[in-house]
Amino acid sequence: MSNRFYENPVIKWIEYRLPIFSFIDESVGSGYPTPKNLNYWWNFGSLAGIVLVVLIGTGIMLAMNYTAHVDYAFESVERIMRDVNYGWLLRYIHVNGGSMFFILVYIHMFRGLYYGSFKEPRELLWIIGVIIIVAMMATAFMGYVLPWGQMSFWGATVITNLFSAIPLIGNDIVTWLWGGFSVDNPTLNRFYAFHYLLPFIIFALVFLHLWALHVHKSNNPVGIDIKGPQDTIPFHPYYTIKDLYGLGVFLIFFMFFVFFAPNFFGEPDNYIKANPLVTPPHIVPEWYFLPFYAILRAVPDLWIISAKLGGVIAMFGSILILVLLPWLDRSKVRSAKFRPIYRQFFWVFFVDCLILGWVGANSPDAIFHGVPFLWIGRVTTAYYFAHILFVIPLISVLEKPKPLPDSINASVTGGTK
Ligand code: HEM
Repeated sequence: MSNRFYENPVIKWIEYRLPIFSFIDESVGSGYPTPKNLNYWWNFGSLAGIVLVVLIGTGIMLAMNYTAHVDYAFESVERIMRDVNYGWLLRYIHVNGGSMFFILVYIHMFRGLYYGSFKEPRELLWIIGVIIIVAMMATAFMGYVLPWGQMSFWGATVITNLFSAIPLIGNDIVTWLWGGFSVDNPTLNRFYAFHYLLPFIIFALVFLHLWALHVHKSNNPVGIDIKGPQDTIPFHPYYTIKDLYGLGVFLIFFMFFVFFAPNFFGEPDNYIKANPLVTPPHIVPEWYFLPFYAILRAVPDLWIISAKLGGVIAMFGSILILVLLPWLDRSKVRSAKFRPIYRQFFWVFFVDCLILGWVGANSPDAIFHGVPFLWIGRVTTAYYFAHILFVIPLISVLEKPKPLPDSINASVTGGTK
């Protein structure tokens, strides 16, 4: 920020008591030096942050018109869609915003995997990210129950029932989660309370995420540390304008769904009011849970561990295992640009995750060219864990990385050793 700004008497008065302007300047202003070579994959964090704010804003306004009671929830959502001024817009922005949030954060995570952003000294930044994605999933799951459609009810029933696989105390846990003996009014009420609370917790976690980010600053496409001022440019105006440009492009994508295909990511069955006596033919979760749903259903009975318990452990394990990545990958080189073997296996892993999503959308008994989906799911689940536990550690010690540039500046101007 220019000296003239700080000479303004009002700014001076506030700054002396609470140095908020210099804090903002050092966080997202001209006082924050940022690697000069960031590409567009570095736009996704700020986009996710903006969508989080949009979700909270539209969510609060939806809450003003929503009734969390099994007799009224479905109708109150219909009323929002038909009678509340711009209620349809608020709801479509909120619902599609949820899908956008997951698209952005998944891209953000794969970016981190590709460029080794999870490595030292950003391990804690990464771990906070893993906690954020878990909190996002809990929030999305509980939000989906609120309209009290068929998928809301049956999705909640299937997923909460998973806890019954825990030996001895499983059934008690499920009763405790439900607040009764089936998914019912107490369940809807507590899900509503948590769905309202969790986004604020995510917000606080994002604050910690950015705090950790700002200690060592952003990683970058070549993955080498900042060595001096020649490697950086001020965040403002360079990255503020780049982030704004990214926001414009993203909004075109987002608004396309809101205005032209608002139910693209949804399930038609959720426009039927919940009926505990009629089970829908296919119970499928929202698209962003599909890979995990495939993992849940892929595990067979293993010795004393039932398929159900094994599936639950594998499903939760598939996310929590990401916490170990900074220690499983021992390569000193961060960016996949200089890691030819890691780079190829990164894409294998990426495709594996896509196939898991496709498997999750299909019934395990369905057959694809003679192969049951159950088996495609088993192979891709096995690879998912093998990739993280064996492939990454092995590559990290066996691979010979390509020579690194001398500096970030040299990589931009073309100098490599
Ligand atoms: C609410 C969700 C999230 C928000 C708003 C968010 C926000 C951000 C922002 C603004 C940045 C800096 C800009 C950028 O690098 O794109 C960042 C960096 C980062 N985030 Fe997130 N993030 C979220 C979730 C996650 C998750 C789920 C993970 C991983 C599990 C993650 C891992 C990282 C890492 C490793 C970096 C450093 C990247 C680098 O410097 O190369 N984030 N995040």
